[in-house]
Amino acid sequence: MALKFCQGKVTHKKIWTEGLFTIRVAVEGVREFEPGQFLQVGIDRGTEKHLHRPYSVASPHGPEIEFFIVLVEDGELTPHLWKMEVGDSIDVAERAAGSFTLKKTPDAENLWLVATGTGLAPYIAMLRTTTPWDRFKKIVVVHGVRHGADLGYQEEFAEYAKSHPEQFVYVPTLTRDESDGALRGRIPQLLDDGNLERAAGCEIAANNCSIMLCGNPAMLDEMEEKLGTRGLKKHKTKDPGQIVLERYW
Ligand SMILES: Cc1cc2nc3c(=O)[nH]c(=O)nc-3n(C[C@H](O)[C@H](O)[C@H](O)COP(=O)(O)OP(=O)(O)OC[C@H]3O[C@@H](n4cnc5c(N)ncnc54)[C@H](O)[C@@H]3O)c2cc1C
Ligand SMILES: NC(=O)c1ccc[n+]([C@@H]2O[C@H](COP(=O)([O-])OP(=O)(O)OC[C@H]3O[C@@H](n4cnc5c(N)ncnc54)[C@H](OP(=O)(O)O)[C@@H]3O)[C@@H](O)[C@H]2O)c1
Repeated sequence: MALKFCQGKVTHKKIWTEGLFTIRVAVEGVREFEPGQFLQVGIDRGTEKHLHRPYSVASPHGPEIEFFIVLVEDGELTPHLWKMEVGDSIDVAERAAGSFTLKKTPDAENLWLVATGTGLAPYIAMLRTTTPWDRFKKIVVVHGVRHGADLGYQEEFAEYAKSHPEQFVYVPTLTRDESDGALRGRIPQLLDDGNLERAAGCEIAANNCSIMLCGNPAMLDEMEEKLGTRGLKKHKTKDPGQIVLERYW
């Protein structure tokens, strides 16, 4: 079926650091979606083929929707998105897709939301609803990035930590930088050396958690393998497990 696009307008642009940004788009006609799903977003190039890519929505459904995007310098679409300013037109698909949602994530005591880079986006959407807060005793957000400046949405996480001190833990991790408030190293390595669980204040075991993984595919593969050695596996409706994944490329 051909994709149908709705024309939106950029209403807000926040630059976290050079090349890493959030845009908010006012758009009518986008059908109700679940937090965690993605929408095709793109631009009309007149006579050339429509240029679009999938983006996790970083907000729940509403008249304005948010996207957390990184500029891929030699990419086709992101250089256009990076240049966008408030008031510019942008196309958003009418229908969202994807099953990286809390509805498709099994119940457990603890929910781990693990991301590299802009893989954080779907979790922002989820955390802005009541669902995770009502369903899980503890919520751990692990965000792995290169430099401290790439840690978008820190203020929002600080608010959650303040409003849900027993329930919410934010674990930022840096791979190319040192910072007092963050762990140093790649996420799978921090799982191996125990620092991830120490920082979160809870252990990862097959009988106590659901884990969502989003972003860099190499991180997903390594984490799935390492978690597998602890008896955790991908969740399927007919073969329940603990891990739910979203690959960005
Ligand atoms: C389900 C889904 C959801 C996605 N959600 C987001 C999102 O919320 N934010 C976002 O920035 N991107 C997201 N992406 C990636 C996005 O669709 C594009 O691939 C990306 O923006 C690059 O587009 P491009 O045309 O500029 O580059 P292309 O010419 O298509 O080049 C793609 C290459 O860029 C690299 N790349 C792509 N995405 C990323 C990324 N996010 N971080 C680091 N390197 C990347 C990879 O090496 C990939 O092979 C998502 C992808 C999928 C499949
Ligand atoms: N500020 C930005 O984020 C920024 C700004 C402008 C342009 N860009 C461009 O955007 C593209 C993507 O950059 P990105 O940093 O957002 O995404 P990324 O390359 O996926 O890196 C995000 C994080 O994932 C880590 N990672 C990589 N492989 C991993 C693995 N196997 N297991 C665990 N963690 C792993 C990286 O660690 P390592 O550091 O060890 O690789 C980094 O900390 C690049 O082309 C970049 O040049 C980024």
